[in-house]
Amino acid sequence: MKNYELQNTSIWSFPDRGNWSTHKGDYRGNWSPHIPRNLILKYTKINDLILDCFVGSGTTLIEAKLLNRNAIGVDINNNALNISKERLRFASHNSSMIKLYKGDAQKLTMINDDSIDLICTHPPYANIIKYSKDIDNDLSLLEYNDFLLHMNNVSKELYRVLKHGHFCSFMIGDIRKNGDVLPLGFRTMQVFLNNGFILKEIIIKEQHNCNSTKYWKDRAQNLNFYLLAHEYIFVLYKQ
Ligand SMILES: C[S@@+](CC[C@H](N)C(=O)[O-])C[C@H]1O[C@@H](n2cnc3c(N)ncnc32)[C@H](O)[C@@H]1O
Repeated sequence: MKNYELQNTSIWSFPDRGNWSTHKGDYRGNWSPHIPRNLILKYTKINDLILDCFVGSGTTLIEAKLLNRNAIGVDINNNALNISKERLRFASHNSSMIKLYKGDAQKLTMINDDSIDLICTHPPYANIIKYSKDIDNDLSLLEYNDFLLHMNNVSKELYRVLKHGHFCSFMIGDIRKNGDVLPLGFRTMQVFLNNGFILKEIIIKEQHNCNSTKYWKDRAQNLNFYLLAHEYIFVLYKQ
C-alpha cells in the first residue's frame, strides 16, 4: 500500500472496495477499508488511539494495525467480535495494541474520559440490516425514531471519551420508506451537533454493488423515485 492516494474532495467513490490484507466484503453492511484508511491517515499519527464502537467485522481495526495505530473495537454481538478477532490474526512488524470488547456504544465504561484520538465508526442504519434477533440494545433492531433516541446516548458517550480538539467520524445512509426518504443521515448528524460536536466535513460516498439494487430498481420505476446510491461520512470535532 505504498503511494496510497488520499481523497481530496467531499465526494468519495471506491468502485474497487479493497481486499488487501485480511479484508473481505462478506459481513453484511461492512464498509470499504478505503474509508477508515483515509480517515486514519488524515486525522491521526502513528501510535494514536482510535475507537470503533460499532466494530462489525473489524475493518477499522485491521487498518489501524496496518497503519501502526492503537485501537479499541466494541460490538454488542459475539458474532462480530469473533470475525474481528479472526481477521486481526495476521503478522505485522508494527507494535499496535488492538483491543476488542463486547459492549454497548451507549455505555463505554471501559474507556476513560478524553482519551481517544479519533473515533472512526459505522453504526447500523436503524433496522435496515438486523444483526441479531433479540440482543438487548442492538441498535439494528430499532425503528427510525427509537434509533435516533439511542444515538443520542451514543453521541454523548463519544463526546465524553474523545480528546479535545480531536475528530469523530461516522458513516450512515438514509432510508426509503413507502417511496419517501427518511433522512437518517442528517437527523443523526443533528443529534451529534446537539451534544456539542462541531461539524468539520460532510462527505458524500457513492454506493457500489448494493445488494438490494435489483429489488429497488423495479420499485423505483413503479413508484417514480430515484434509487438511493449515496451515504454520508460526517466528520465532527470536540472543541
Ligand atoms: C454497519 S455494522 C459495522 C460494520 C463494520 N464497519 C465493518 O466493516 O464490518 C454495525 C455494527 O454495529 C453493531 N451494534 C449494534 N448495536 C450496537 C451497540 N449498541 N453497541 C455496539 N455495537 C452495536 C452490530 O452488531 C454491527 O456489527
